[in-house]
Amino acid sequence: MSIEGSLVQNAIYIAGEPHPVVTADDWEAAAKEKLDPGPYGYIAGGAGAEATMRANSEALERWQLRPRMLAGNVKREVSVEVLGTSSPAPFLLAPIGVLSIAHEEGELAVARAARSTGIPLILSSAASHSIEEVAEVMGDAPRWFQLYWANEREICESFCRRAAAAGYGAIVVTLDTSTLGWRPRDLRNAYLPFMEGQGCAQFFTDPVFRARLSQPPEEDMLTAAATMLSTFPNLALTWDDLAWLRDQVELPLLVKGVLTAEDAARAKACGVDGIVVSNHGGRQVDGAVAALDALVEVRAEVGDAYPLLMDGGIRTAAHVLKALALGADAVLLGRPYAYGLAVDGQAGVEEVVTNLMAEIDLTLALVGAHSVHDLDRTWIAASS
Ligand code: FNR
Repeated sequence: MSIEGSLVQNAIYIAGEPHPVVTADDWEAAAKEKLDPGPYGYIAGGAGAEATMRANSEALERWQLRPRMLAGNVKREVSVEVLGTSSPAPFLLAPIGVLSIAHEEGELAVARAARSTGIPLILSSAASHSIEEVAEVMGDAPRWFQLYWANEREICESFCRRAAAAGYGAIVVTLDTSTLGWRPRDLRNAYLPFMEGQGCAQFFTDPVFRARLSQPPEEDMLTAAATMLSTFPNLALTWDDLAWLRDQVELPLLVKGVLTAEDAARAKACGVDGIVVSNHGGRQVDGAVAALDALVEVRAEVGDAYPLLMDGGIRTAAHVLKALALGADAVLLGRPYAYGLAVDGQAGVEEVVTNLMAEIDLTLALVGAHSVHDLDRTWIAASS
């Protein structure tokens, strides 16, 4: 997108109808209006006292951009490439499970929005639509698959095989969810969508998983959902298992959920191709370190050239630019696109995504950069 694109977008807003839903907070408020308390709480909530969620946002506000004037930057580069996957802007759509609770079309609507905007989608293991259905909707559009490491290796292998066969460009294995975190909003609402068969599509369509059931999910959904939930927790996993997974996966393999230099070094030593620094949007360990602070630590450990992504609290273009300046190659956009989906399906996701793309380009122009690749520590200062 060019500066003209950004200005056209602004002009449409200014000349058209009033547009009450613009910022990430606006989208969240509109989604809250639309959704029942159970689904809304599931998406918006975090673990424990939600201190990690707050820490993610606070860390992003602790840094400030250092704009440079008279840069002569009529043309700017905002696209990135990570492990062979290109994106027209320096973000991807984070894996978010159970999107059928936000909108009846769930991940299919998100997949269509990803395709139309060109922003890559990372499809969740806990999605409500299968690897193959999403691939069909996306055609050649870029996508990765997020693996939840079920406690049966054959199921993990099967998921990875299916993703490779269906044109996904990388596997992102999430390490921080060996079991679900303590989430007070869901406990209060007694809300667990998986027990209603939502978010189970990868499992219910998997030949290895289906072979474990005495009756197919179409005939006995409750038992199938309970079986899925029993294969989910995997607290026995160790770094030796990661070495095993590395051997199984031919696609680029990233780990998601790393928060320390020690773990980053271990992942790299296992031959993992990239890291997503993340605390799962504050949904797992309450009181954990902010994702942006962890990014600084992890980048220092892995060196300049190693592929590094980050998520947690990204809501504005300034947040994206700050994360890039502190060492991310790209970031993942999380909750805001789920709110867009809740409000207006595919069109809502498209609007959230294209607004962020336009805002990134405009902000890049105004801070005086020529390319997102120029951003480094000289573009940022810690507020005192
Ligand atoms: C998630 N996230 C997540 N991560 C993952 O690896 N697999 C998954 O299935 C899910 N599911 C999921 C559901 C919901 C409702 C949310 C909000 C988040 C975590 C997600 O990928 C990302 O790390 C966070 O959303 C980033 O935080 P923010 O920016 O959304 O606050």
